[in-house]
Amino acid sequence: MMQKSSVLCSLLGIQFPVIQAGMAGGPAGSELAAAVSKAGGLGTLGAAYMSGEAIREAVKLIREKTDRPFAVNLFTADMKDDFSRIHEVKEVLAPIAESIGAEAGFEGLKTKDMFLEQFQAVMEENVPIISTAFGLLPEEHMAEAKNQNRKIIAMATTVEEAISAERSGADAVVAQGSDAGGHRGTFDMNKHPQGANIGTFSLVPQMADALAIPVIAAGGVMDGRGLAASLMLGASGVQLGTRFLACAESGAHPAYQEMLTQSNEASTVLTSAFSGRPARGISNQFISSFELSGVPPLPFPSQNTATGKIRKAAAEQNNPAFMSLWAGQGLRMMKYGETAEDILLKVMKEAEDSLASF
Ligand SMILES: Cc1cc2nc3c(=O)[nH]c(=O)nc-3n(C[C@H](O)[C@H](O)[C@H](O)COP(=O)(O)O)c2cc1C
Repeated sequence: MMQKSSVLCSLLGIQFPVIQAGMAGGPAGSELAAAVSKAGGLGTLGAAYMSGEAIREAVKLIREKTDRPFAVNLFTADMKDDFSRIHEVKEVLAPIAESIGAEAGFEGLKTKDMFLEQFQAVMEENVPIISTAFGLLPEEHMAEAKNQNRKIIAMATTVEEAISAERSGADAVVAQGSDAGGHRGTFDMNKHPQGANIGTFSLVPQMADALAIPVIAAGGVMDGRGLAASLMLGASGVQLGTRFLACAESGAHPAYQEMLTQSNEASTVLTSAFSGRPARGISNQFISSFELSGVPPLPFPSQNTATGKIRKAAAEQNNPAFMSLWAGQGLRMMKYGETAEDILLKVMKEAEDSLASF
């Protein structure tokens, strides 16, 4: 069991089998990624919404703080827009925007597909580990990354997805259980319109049985008990998102961090209202208003683009009622007033104690 985690640690060049999830949109910036890597885990830059240039700058900042390995996380989803139903969605979003005095502006909406410039930046900056959500790296990019000895971690929500990740050349797979905060990483949204939502406890052992490469458990892992349990279930390590949201180096908005303190295991819902893809976050007024309307959201990424101005205005106003508050189901286990290093050391100590008492 412990041997499996050593295999993962030597694969990634890290000390502890704990990965900090790349959380796009601000929470997982260079400061958090550098702090986690420096402390012996794997820090990850949540780069899915960053330009190539922004990734280059962030990577430089990480390298100024640590010479240890780190990862950059990207989305591999199809970024083709479909605004054909914008008139319907606008009927719901316009009054919400007006209620907070936001300029929603629905004319000429377009999502910029930045994947190629992101991938190029990651390759040129010699980023050692690339992690992905929503699918696999396109074949030619996988070949290029593997040729240059980069390690690839793919996130999957079913055993079938995990097997395809292994076959594509991934070095490790994150088993994302339905407890997880943030977007469901499900590959085929036509097959699973609500996302494939298998609990972490069911998913991890079934993936571990099916794969030869290391499996990393994600979703509801908040402390050392979660790490110990994940290792027992056949995982080689864990990926934590939510637990890192409130630490000193987190880039999460203060109003969002405040909402975490008021929430518990029953506070989150799965919703496509913000982005067009199902994601788990703390229930709020935006989600209930959108869902009560009965209007289906636009597909990803168009819904994300259409709601962007509302989310931005809400953040500027410190108003969590209209911000996306991604979080997992382990919220009652959140701790406050700690650094990323504190989290890693506590998780490791608790896991060692749990395993020893077992
Ligand atoms: C705020 C937030 C943002 C996230 N953004 C991403 C992302 O950009 N890319 C990604 O691969 N996973 C993302 N995730 C999902 C994580 O990879 C991971 O599956 C999840 O955090 C694990 O569950 P936990 O939150 O209970 O620890 C995000 C999670 C959270 C909480």
